Amino acid sequence: MELISSRARGAAFLLLLLLLHCCQIDTILGQKSDRALTVVENTEGREGGGADEEAEVSVDEDEGDLEVVQPTEDWQTLKPGQAVPAGSHVRLNLQTGQREVKLGEEQLKYWTQEHKETEEHQSTISPVELKRAMKKMKEDLNPVSKDTHQQDSVASKYRPLEELRRDMAQLDLLVETDVQIMKRLLDQFNSSKCTTEQKLSLLLELEYLVHQVDNAQTLSSMGGLQLILEGLNSTDFRLQESSAFVLGSAVSSNPEVQVKAVECGALQTLLTILATAQPIRVKKKVLFALASLLRNFPYAQRHFLSHGGLQVLSELFRADGGGVLRTRIVTMLYDMISEKELISQAGLDLVLDASHEERVRQYSEVSLQGELLEKGWCNLVPQLLESTEHDYREKALRALLAMAPMCLDQYRSHSSLLGSLLSLRDQYQEMVQSEMIVGEENGYYAEIVELINALHVKMKR
Ligand SMILES: *[C@@H]1O[C@H](CO)[C@@H](O)[C@H](O)[C@H]1NC(C)=O
Ligand SMILES: *[C@@H]1O[C@H](CO)[C@@H](O)[C@H](O)[C@H]1NC(C)=O
Repeated sequence: MELISSRARGAAFLLLLLLLHCCQIDTILGQKSDRALTVVENTEGREGGGADEEAEVSVDEDEGDLEVVQPTEDWQTLKPGQAVPAGSHVRLNLQTGQREVKLGEEQLKYWTQEHKETEEHQSTISPVELKRAMKKMKEDLNPVSKDTHQQDSVASKYRPLEELRRDMAQLDLLVETDVQIMKRLLDQFNSSKCTTEQKLSLLLELEYLVHQVDNAQTLSSMGGLQLILEGLNSTDFRLQESSAFVLGSAVSSNPEVQVKAVECGALQTLLTILATAQPIRVKKKVLFALASLLRNFPYAQRHFLSHGGLQVLSELFRADGGGVLRTRIVTMLYDMISEKELISQAGLDLVLDASHEERVRQYSEVSLQGELLEKGWCNLVPQLLESTEHDYREKALRALLAMAPMCLDQYRSHSSLLGSLLSLRDQYQEMVQSEMIVGEENGYYAEIVELINALHVKMKR
């Protein structure tokens, strides 16, 4: 008789994983804390009063008085300091944040295996049977009386653990964890037999996985970043594109992986690709990776500048007629400027954490403004206003405003900037009027008009 479906068992095994950790901590080290789950052996062999009733059992002299919850087939909430018998299911209820316990898979399985011959005609577990099974199991686990040799009781404590480990090994075969998946993908990717087509689909899978912070860290610790960088160096532009995509996603908002990537030489590799002839779709993804690598990472920004990053970008900007890359570049510069600005403004707040000074110091070493001025960006960014895309113009206006403190002189002497601004303002004001007719007063175009006005005011002074 199969009482538990294999799916349910799989889910139950996952919960046992939790328990396994707890068992190891608490029974092997014999330590207890209020926060850690305590697992005890029920030395009394005492049976709970009913299927839904808690039983308190006092245990070994050196453990002191410990409240032991007798699990039932239903989940019950554990209070701090309460212990559970080994083999119980314990889970964290994510809604309440409380731990819950119920009768373990181990306990149920024990019962089903040992006693199925007598229960073959039954299809469900009745509370009475459950109680009987629990009793039988406890007797088997504690075959000797209380004055048993310590060794025996220790041995019996470990027995369920061994069984748990066996179950976990079975589970490993059934359910592949993200870590295992990534190991498999990287092994396949690293294999000499792997074709380009296969590599492309492996990269796609990896890209999906590394959006999770811990997955990206796993990738990095498994040496995956080196493989990705090799992919970036590939002569096949599709591999370069996909590798850049994985790298960018892996370092996004992930400081640990950002540091690793810079240590692996990602910055130089990315800049080299941007500085050489490549299809635009490769450069797009490489710019994405570069922007993600630099974001909130002053160390990388400093090295980006000292490796001639702004020079590389300005050449790319000049060569890009269509504006796709220009917009991305200008957005990236805007992000870097405003990021630095935000840090220095935070200094005006009253409450500062200890790391703030260090951050200010790191950002002070990023000589972004001077470099932007020197590499001619004050005159380059206005060119993006010539685009016909509203989005591109908006990005240009934001960057122009952010750069205004250092660029005002150039803006004022620029041959066409003022003229562009005034004609754009007319155009967008007209569009705002028609937006109002449609009934969207504070729309996108009004926002653009505001940006233009703000810049215009700065230029007039
Ligand atoms: C890739 O394979 C080489 C040997 O073929 C090995 O040295 C290297 O560690 C492997 N890299 C990864 C990330 O598995
Ligand atoms: C990629 O190429 C650059 C320049 O050719 C080289 O310096 C770098 O070591 C290469 N990286 C990898 C991971 O092969």
